Amino acid sequence: MTFHTLITGASTGIGKRLAEEFAGMGDNLVLVARSRDKLETLAGELRRAHGVDVQVCCQDLSMPGAAAKVFGFCERNGIAIDRLVNCAGFSVAGDFERMDEEAFVQMATVNMVAVAALIRLFLPAMRARRRGAVVNIASLAGFQGVPGMACYSASKAFVVNLTEALSIEFRGTGIRIFAVCPGFIDNDLFYRRAGHDRNRIIVPVSSPDVVVKAVRKGLAGKELLILPTFFDWLMVFSQRFVPRKIAAGLAGLFAGARGK
Ligand SMILES: NC(=O)c1ccc[n+]([C@@H]2O[C@H](COP(=O)([O-])OP(=O)(O)OC[C@H]3O[C@@H](n4cnc5c(N)ncnc54)[C@H](OP(=O)(O)O)[C@@H]3O)[C@@H](O)[C@H]2O)c1
Repeated sequence: MTFHTLITGASTGIGKRLAEEFAGMGDNLVLVARSRDKLETLAGELRRAHGVDVQVCCQDLSMPGAAAKVFGFCERNGIAIDRLVNCAGFSVAGDFERMDEEAFVQMATVNMVAVAALIRLFLPAMRARRRGAVVNIASLAGFQGVPGMACYSASKAFVVNLTEALSIEFRGTGIRIFAVCPGFIDNDLFYRRAGHDRNRIIVPVSSPDVVVKAVRKGLAGKELLILPTFFDWLMVFSQRFVPRKIAAGLAGLFAGARGK
């Protein structure tokens, strides 16, 4: 069976790796991000390497109505999406009081509003076909507040809770809904965009491949929130034994994003 998979944030980093993986699995793809050149180059590479159909939908997900435009693109091109991968997202590092309001609004729109809006638009057809998957790339930051990344961690908590709730609302419909919650991933672009000094992170930084592996595990299994590495699992498990204040304080210390 050939699947049509839509991946947001496919131009770089984790989303690009996921696009390569899904193309390797034989899926036809719709790639979404703002950088048309990067998406077109990737699309050409994937068509040549895997013989799959790859469409590029260039869209700024921080703009109002962006999700509807992505949905409209698929409808116009007669593409029925079987798998929706919400990977687009970004972080802004630094103390809350100094956070630029425009950056906050854009982050909230891309990391939360667009994720929920895309799910809302694509789920009904998946339900009607009684098959499909929604894969949300959340973060370990979504399990506790992270000082220095207050709004980012809150946005990822939204994704974690949304995923949890929807997985139950859509139980028995044939649709798999899960989130992958990575700790820090090796991707200089992500830290540069966030204004996050990577050298101040004092916990392991993993390869994007751990996320790819976790997504494959999620598609094959029944887990709801997938923690890609043993360290990620340990960080969440250990929260059962310490007050939340301590968990948040430690997360802030490990992330090294404060003081700017
Ligand atoms: N890197 C980490 O340490 C880490 C850890 C945990 C979770 N995550 C999550 O993993 C996801 C991918 O991150 P990454 O590390 O791969 O970072 P990245 O390389 O910066 O990729 C972010 C992707 O999102 C797209 N994007 C950003 N703003 C957008 C907008 N306004 N409209 C449309 N697309 C937009 C970017 O494309 P364009 O710039 O071309 O639009 C890019 O394709 C994010 O949700 C992130 O929160 C990352």
